[in-house]
Amino acid sequence: MTDILTIRRPDDWHVHLRDGSMLEAVAGYTARQFARAIVMPNLAPPVTTTAAARAYRERIMAALPEDSDFTPLMTAYLTDTIDADDLAAGHAEGVFTAAKLYPAGATTNSDSGVTDVANIYGVIERMEAIDMPLLIHGEVTDSEIDIFDREAVFIERILEPLTRKFPALRIVFEHITTANAVAFVKDTGPNIAATITPHHCVINRNAMFTGGIRPHAYCLPVAKREPHRLAVRAAAVSGSSKFFLGTDTAPHVRGDKESSCGCAGIFNAPFALESYAEVFAAEGALDQLEGFASEHGPRFYGLPLNEGTVTLRRAPTDVPDAIALEGAEIVPFQAGETLGWTLD
Ligand code: NCD
Ligand code: ZN
Repeated sequence: MTDILTIRRPDDWHVHLRDGSMLEAVAGYTARQFARAIVMPNLAPPVTTTAAARAYRERIMAALPEDSDFTPLMTAYLTDTIDADDLAAGHAEGVFTAAKLYPAGATTNSDSGVTDVANIYGVIERMEAIDMPLLIHGEVTDSEIDIFDREAVFIERILEPLTRKFPALRIVFEHITTANAVAFVKDTGPNIAATITPHHCVINRNAMFTGGIRPHAYCLPVAKREPHRLAVRAAAVSGSSKFFLGTDTAPHVRGDKESSCGCAGIFNAPFALESYAEVFAAEGALDQLEGFASEHGPRFYGLPLNEGTVTLRRAPTDVPDAIALEGAEIVPFQAGETLGWTLD
């Protein structure tokens, strides 16, 4: 049994670092575990221009601990009217690593998202030409589609046609939650990959209703039935280079979660690697963790692998019930539980 696991320094290919006092409170957690992270642009207002991304990157750098060498990789928030020239210039300049497609209304701060993907075909064509990755929140938003079916329907109606229309486009299908998404990614060309969160490996939809309503288990895409969790978990540990680490850490203060209309999002940044390690260990796949956490992502994005290593030890980590924030608190994923691994 492996008790000490040293792997190349990992990256997080999907985080919400927020802004203002929340950014100050959470940035250090991601920077402690990861060398780089793809930073989501769903601020209010969203990050839609190169200038806004540059300014946000500076605010992130200012929020980091003094000795941190963390690199935020910025993304553009696609809207129906985004300026393709500015997007391409931002990419050429190295400000934008990728662009994110939120269907309007799909999740937190997605009101300015794309109302019909056809509205941005011109922009996507441009992205395909300059080889700029498109990151997708893959859920339809039609109210008549059951919330648990929105990812599967998105694949059929939007994603599959999109991959045929833009065959060379690099796409990351973000935070996949279904067996349908796993199958789609596996069966589609090498330019299609997916991120997988720790929570979608660990919880199924029952977690939201264990003995009462559990707002801290609510995120989008919402956790699905057990067979879907098992499919997602199997994909994560499979060793396939099409699947890589993206926590989707999405902090909201306790009061915004424990509310009559609670926000979607799970804050897993403090112990994300420990959570993943537990999943890989339970599956007898610790030897696949390095690929998932540190190699598949940079290879897909065409970025160098990190130098340096991190070490995980088989030793208990107690996840606190809450993490204090100026005048508020955030409840982390697996609050009050003991994880079997500790990051040195
Ligand atoms: C994210 C957030 O709060 O910004 N919420 C979530 O449940 N994951 C948005 C998102 O990634 O969907
Ligand atoms: Zn997200």
